[in-house]
Amino acid sequence: MTAALNVPDLIRKKRDGEVHTRAELEALVLGYTRGEVPDYQISAWLMAVYLRGMTPQETADLTRVMAESGEQLDLAGLPRTVDKHSTGGVGDKTSLILTPMLAALGLTVAKMSGRGLAHTGGTIDKLESFPGWTPELSEEQFLAQAREIGLALVGQSRDLAPADGKLYALRDVTATVDCLPLIASSIMSKKLASGAHTVVLDVKVGAGAFMRTLDDGRALARAMVDIGTRASRLVRAVLTDMDTPLGHMAGNSLEVQEALATLRGEGPADLTELCVALAVEALAAYGEDEGQAEARARATLRDGSALAKFRAFVAAQGGDATLVDHPERLDVAPGRAEVTAPSSGFVERVDALAVGRAVLALGGGRERKGEPIDHGVGVELLKKPGEAVQAGQAVLRLYHRGGRGLGAARSLLEAGLSVSETPPSPEPLILDRVN
Ligand code: URA
Repeated sequence: MTAALNVPDLIRKKRDGEVHTRAELEALVLGYTRGEVPDYQISAWLMAVYLRGMTPQETADLTRVMAESGEQLDLAGLPRTVDKHSTGGVGDKTSLILTPMLAALGLTVAKMSGRGLAHTGGTIDKLESFPGWTPELSEEQFLAQAREIGLALVGQSRDLAPADGKLYALRDVTATVDCLPLIASSIMSKKLASGAHTVVLDVKVGAGAFMRTLDDGRALARAMVDIGTRASRLVRAVLTDMDTPLGHMAGNSLEVQEALATLRGEGPADLTELCVALAVEALAAYGEDEGQAEARARATLRDGSALAKFRAFVAAQGGDATLVDHPERLDVAPGRAEVTAPSSGFVERVDALAVGRAVLALGGGRERKGEPIDHGVGVELLKKPGEAVQAGQAVLRLYHRGGRGLGAARSLLEAGLSVSETPPSPEPLILDRVN
């Protein structure tokens, strides 16, 4: 194929709005992954895709080609496998709660998760708040733990969908990240290669998310569900609001504490509702009646079964599981500062992006891959949008270490907070579903 391949012809084809065959996509993408097609040609092709788009079939073909470009996990030997993906948010500790819920419900979660980058957090970073916990398991350990506990979670393997890694790095420097078929295929290539039969997607919409409008979020959700269906997977998506952080806590240890409270049935309403809704989608994908699924999902947070799965999971991966029952012993930075309401009224906006950036400024996130982070710093929303406040009352609490980044974090939060005289109209958390 490579000998017959004429890359300029393929770039021209997409430039002129024509449709690629799977063989052409293979030639381009696998040729690039092997180092046979240079960056400058793929850069031009990515821009042509950005400007011309792709048909659903092309997008599905591109995804399959990327998914098959490296190692693929075979989970076929495990019962009722399910994976979950969030398009990235602030204060989004959903995976910490949902995955043990799913295990308690009899599903199997054998999942790869990422680390945080820029203003969004990552599940692996949050779990590393447990001293000793490791995201590195051999494939045998990973599969055995998933079979035994129903839950195993590891870091993203570099060998998984390597074409996506290379293409993403190039998109990042050619202004082609923000392109629906490229985002959908990038996310889904990793989900297909990770092997789960069912995938539940949480597509975030709003200030702190990739997708700023509901229409854009819906289009991304539809594209990802379509890719999954064409690959014989069951994919269901929930669109959720990310104008303001989920729950009250942002920052690694703080989010773990909030997740543990939620697993004890004492979590904030928005976070609990989202976890229940995602669990219902997973069970419904396996044919369960939604009413029954909801009742069973809620029960796991009341009867301690999800918490028990989480405890077993932390211990199995080397973490100090005594902290599961003593979350107050997790390392939280000792410094405290507050941002107060500029006037009396109702909290109108606590901007998710501002909170994410404030956590980053305090040292709780990383600008570049591989940078160390401080798990103990973060931001607490003492008040959420819609709640009444008095002028001078604390709305946000910062947890800092020795004042590091405090000035910058405070400025970001002040700019991201607004108070109105009348209560803002309540926005639902779950905006839509696609399946
Ligand atoms: N997340 C991904 O994995 N890929 C994208 O292109 C965007 C978000």
